[in-house]
Amino acid sequence: MRVLVIGSGAREHALLLALARDPAVSALACAPGNAGTEALAESRRVDLDGPESIAALAKDWQADLVVIGPEAPLVAGAGDSVRQAGIPCFGPSKQAARIEGSKAFAKDVMSAAGVATARSEMVDTPARLDAALARFGPTWVVKDDGLAAGKGVVVTSDYDTARAHAMRLLDSGHPVLLESFLDGPEVSLFCVVDGTTVLPMLPAQDFKRAGDGDAGPNTGGMGAYSPLPWAPAGLVDEVVAGIVQPVVDELAARGTPFVGLLYTGLALTAEGPQVVEFNCRFGDPETQAVLALLNTPVAGLLLAAAEGRLADQPPLQWKTGAAVAVVVAAEGYPGLPRTGDVIIGSETDGVLHAGTSRRADGAVVSAGGRVLSVVGTGGDLVSARTAAYERVGSVRLTGSYHRTDIALRAISGEIRMPGKT
Ligand code: GLY
Repeated sequence: MRVLVIGSGAREHALLLALARDPAVSALACAPGNAGTEALAESRRVDLDGPESIAALAKDWQADLVVIGPEAPLVAGAGDSVRQAGIPCFGPSKQAARIEGSKAFAKDVMSAAGVATARSEMVDTPARLDAALARFGPTWVVKDDGLAAGKGVVVTSDYDTARAHAMRLLDSGHPVLLESFLDGPEVSLFCVVDGTTVLPMLPAQDFKRAGDGDAGPNTGGMGAYSPLPWAPAGLVDEVVAGIVQPVVDELAARGTPFVGLLYTGLALTAEGPQVVEFNCRFGDPETQAVLALLNTPVAGLLLAAAEGRLADQPPLQWKTGAAVAVVVAAEGYPGLPRTGDVIIGSETDGVLHAGTSRRADGAVVSAGGRVLSVVGTGGDLVSARTAAYERVGSVRLTGSYHRTDIALRAISGEIRMPGKT
């Protein structure tokens, strides 16, 4: 099977590593890829904003399956264009991708499906902002309605900070979604979906803030681990039955079935799991941890989803143990990152590339905000974490930073369900 992966992050590097382990895969390409993916896959140029460019590449390269990593091409309709070219695609249609592309749409689907989520209010004019803000707090959650790579969200107990973020979004023409704050540990659950059937993967936890102890601004994600030793037994089944399957059924009933990876971001509140957000693709960096543990051949799995055959698929098979991913970010991220610095130690097992490129002299240099995802696996979370941080210690990139507390509270038993002591 010839598999084309669209994207250029560590998520795509992780997908390629998993695809390369599947004996059914005969060739891999990645577009546009990065300095790490080129060791696993042919690098091809593509216009990520152009669905037709992606479909043309898939035809030209004679792909048997296209896997679309990032949300922007999916929201722009790349999944539809690839399917119209007659090629199976793992990734939802433009209509179904609105579950991530428009928070108002996601709220409407959740309401129709009877799924628990934060109370919310859309504000599209500054005149309505103050009255709306008064209906929320003491912690404000202020979101960009559209795509913002994880950086459109501000969660704050400071009214002025909440208001300033909302004003910035409104001034740049973006509607703002205000939400009630969901208190409780966060969980990312990935489900492979073929339009009707849902196959859940191992749950993971993401670290969205830039600094240790969840300090600093929101980012696309600074680290992750999987599975979750503290999670209640039966959590995944409960979330699939009460949240994911009803949403998948609602999308199918609207005539826009979801085919691809449905990512549910949850808060485990005292009232039970509630949805923070849906994403229409694999999460980054959770994918780097989750796929490191997957034994099921992934190309066959994603093709079965693309072809509507998941009901015939046996349950997913996992390695025992745990995986931890630590993001190494460039100085300045999540603002304007410093780029062009030589990276030492990037061509090591477990070091997945994101914002990297290869200079004419062959050196690997930084080319984006999140530069690397460094993954460690082990028999338990302690050994996986040790392995990840040992590898981080062997990477050198001027000005870079990483969080030092990924998976730490899970290991020290500090993660508690609300209402429980
Ligand atoms: N890890 C958060 C995201 O992928 O959106």
